[in-house]
Amino acid sequence: MSVIANNCPEIIVTLLDTDQEKIINWNSSDLKKLPVFEPGLSELVQKNRNKNLFFTTDAESSISKADIVFISVNTPTKIKGLGAGYASDLKWVENSARMVSKFAKGHTIVVEKSTVPVRTAELIKEILINSNPEIENDSKTFSVLSSPEFLAEGTAIKDLENPDRVLIGGEDKEAIDQLSLIYQKWIPKEKIFVTNLWSSELSKLTANAFLAQRISSINAISSLCEPTGADIQEVAKAIGADQRIGRKFLNAGPGFGGSCFQKDLLNMIYLCRYYGLEEVADYWEQVVILNDWQKKRISKLIIETFFGTVTSKKCTLLGFAFKSNTNDTRESPAITIAKELMENGANLYIHDPQVSKSQLENIFDEEKFFSQRNNSDGNWAYIDNLDEAFNNADAIIIMTEWSEYLKIDWEKFSKLMRRPAWIFDTRGIISEDDLNGKNLNFWQVGRGFISLK
Ligand code: UDX
Repeated sequence: MSVIANNCPEIIVTLLDTDQEKIINWNSSDLKKLPVFEPGLSELVQKNRNKNLFFTTDAESSISKADIVFISVNTPTKIKGLGAGYASDLKWVENSARMVSKFAKGHTIVVEKSTVPVRTAELIKEILINSNPEIENDSKTFSVLSSPEFLAEGTAIKDLENPDRVLIGGEDKEAIDQLSLIYQKWIPKEKIFVTNLWSSELSKLTANAFLAQRISSINAISSLCEPTGADIQEVAKAIGADQRIGRKFLNAGPGFGGSCFQKDLLNMIYLCRYYGLEEVADYWEQVVILNDWQKKRISKLIIETFFGTVTSKKCTLLGFAFKSNTNDTRESPAITIAKELMENGANLYIHDPQVSKSQLENIFDEEKFFSQRNNSDGNWAYIDNLDEAFNNADAIIIMTEWSEYLKIDWEKFSKLMRRPAWIFDTRGIISEDDLNGKNLNFWQVGRGFISLK
């Protein structure tokens, strides 16, 4: 919405959220309080806020004035009920549609921006039309479009400013043209694809499934590189040079995280099973299984390196966000690895340039992870500096590829560690040249144990 406001000064963009605290923070003069950390976002908010970009909890006023409403709410995987563990929970989409139906005036275009299962537009239409008696006398009318979002966190502003494509799915030509005209303010028309509603919805799930599959593929090969002596970075370079494969998205790592990949894959699997496509469902499910396995194999490997016991060992996780340049920890592989290590008694120290202590508390307390624990080992602490991260540490585990970890002064910090000292690089970002001659042991994803000079 900030990017639309910035590119279309003549359009008033209002962001409506029922969470009052979030809106207070979006309106805060202290830009560090904005609920989302995203490079370039605070500058856009500061530039356009209260000019043509507004943040509010007032549903009636904002919806009644709107010509176009974008539904951009969370659609997490259902944890109970029909389809639990696979299907998306659409309750927030439904609530939003009910709200729009209640407060809209005249003709309103409703754009599905959230990632949703195929045929959700039908549900939205149903709610918009059937939940309101005024519809019958034609005082309100609606057009539903699908326009899924392809931005990635950490590069969101860049992706929105210069997208590979924009997708608009729908049947109502006038509504499609109106939405297209907004995007055309800064995006060339040939990048705006118009499709039918269902193709648009399914394209989003498919794009994420393909991307996730690519990561599971490279991670599968990373596990094969380690015992054979092949080097995943050399393999990735070699296969990426083939234009049909391409060089992007070939970084082996601790497994994909984030709010989209797993959720969308599970959605796809659910849909396939719904339509009786068992083999297709199994095919995509393997991408998720491999991803879980990659996280577990790394934590197991760390524990086994310490001869099966990490009890009382100080293990420092450098990075907790699911990728760099975001404070988002949803489905972060660091969560699984942290829990496995703590289950085995490790004392974890967690450092991340953007993730806060309270975020960690929410993650670990939410599942009452510590309530079952009655000894002092297997705990975690939040730290905000590298001195504490390295001091007396038995293991340093690089979990997120933050640029500041590329600049670590190994000469200085490695001296602080307890010997034998281990560096586990799950992102493949550390060069052994920086570690040579410092009495360290080194493991790197897709390269395995590397002997240092
Ligand atoms: C993804 C899609 O890229 C985006 O188009 C969609 O709109 C939302 O989902 P996002 O989850 O923000 O975006 O991040 P992305 O950059 O795709 O990374 C997802 C995960 O894959 C991260 O955990 C990342 O570390 C991991 N990853 C990515 C790898 O392990 N290796 C890679 O080469 C690329």
